[in-house]
Amino acid sequence: MNSIELKVNHSGIVTLAKIQDDRDGNLIIANALKEIPFEIKRVYYINQLENSVSIRGKHAHKKCEQVIFCISGSFLLGLDDGKVQQKVLMNKDNIGIYLGPMLWHTMEDFSAGCVLLVFASDYYDESDYIRNYEDFIRLTK
Ligand code: TYD
Repeated sequence: MNSIELKVNHSGIVTLAKIQDDRDGNLIIANALKEIPFEIKRVYYINQLENSVSIRGKHAHKKCEQVIFCISGSFLLGLDDGKVQQKVLMNKDNIGIYLGPMLWHTMEDFSAGCVLLVFASDYYDESDYIRNYEDFIRLTK
């Protein structure tokens, strides 16, 4: 059960199984080619965000697919497919957002203790990034 309603193209909701134990914490499981809709080549996480003044992200990818989670705390994920924009509050450790190619995304408003976890379909490749918003809009036309 989740309350996110996605309005942008190239996005999706990814729900992971969560084994909850009141005394012993939570166990959350991500399987490649099952809940994560691609072969995972890279995993990265982002932490120590409490004093962040900048907006992270601000790019789209040409080919790389990703699924982003907020595994602790909360943040605001901005999504923009070139036509429609929306902001999604990320505050559930087992609910991620699929970021397909050509989806401009931003991350901001991080809570204390916020940790982001990202699964990616490709290794890091700067040439796969579109970092200029005007270029992005031109390429979506
Ligand atoms: P970037 O993807 O722009 O971060 P964010 O979207 O979270 O703001 O990456 C920040 C810097 O880290 C940039 O110089 C590229 C480098 N980087 C890598 O070297 N490898 C990686 O896998 C990632 C994600 C970033």
